[in-house]
Amino acid sequence: MISPEQFRNKHLVIVGLKGAGKTNFIKWLLRYYPRHLIFDVLREHKGFNRYLPTHRQRGEELNQEFNLLLNKVVIPKREKLDVFGVDEANRIFPNREKMPAAGLDLIDFSRHWSMCIAFIARRLAQLHTDVVETANYVVAFKQTGFNDLRRLASLMEGLDDVMREKISFQEHNFILFDGNSFSIEKVPKMD
Ligand SMILES: Nc1ncnc2c1ncn2[C@@H]1O[C@H](COP(=O)(O)OP(=O)(O)OP(=O)(O)O)[C@@H](O)[C@H]1O
Ligand SMILES: [Mg+2]
Repeated sequence: MISPEQFRNKHLVIVGLKGAGKTNFIKWLLRYYPRHLIFDVLREHKGFNRYLPTHRQRGEELNQEFNLLLNKVVIPKREKLDVFGVDEANRIFPNREKMPAAGLDLIDFSRHWSMCIAFIARRLAQLHTDVVETANYVVAFKQTGFNDLRRLASLMEGLDDVMREKISFQEHNFILFDGNSFSIEKVPKMD
């Protein structure tokens, strides 16, 4: 059984297609850690401590807003935050593109912080490799895209069709990968 406690101070990448269970997982995590902040591009995390960016599309303006939040809130308050979540993290940390300064800062500085950082996206292949490769845990809900599954398999050596079927066909399951081994997990439904 997994517990929110095991994610304390860890970096997480949470991926899954629409309806797979990402938001439910985040709720499960944030309820346990009331000292949290979530960058909520999709305006999904009602009832939690969240920052709603005015700009929502990928680009310089959204990056600047992220930069401001990081420098004016997250960094100064880092001792008081247990979780910082970034929803639609692919908009700030897109694959195969130059990462904005704030993105690099977050990845570099936060290694020395006592904070869980959760990067959330629909598809693994959309996220910058620096984010995926430095994560302590990958939480992978349903993925069906060729590139996403290929990246999943390259990350998790030994991942076979049976495991992939478990996330593709059984509702709200996810693969939990800790850099060495993986298991199929599920968290309770949150209301
Ligand atoms: N572990 C679970 N057990 C039962 N139901 C779940 C579980 N996880 C999610 N659900 C239900 O499935 C639906 C979709 O879940 P959720 O909103 O978490 O998906 P999502 O991955 O965030 O999707 P989107 O990409 O559209 O935001 C919700 O109604 C939610 O209550
Ligand atoms: Mg969601």
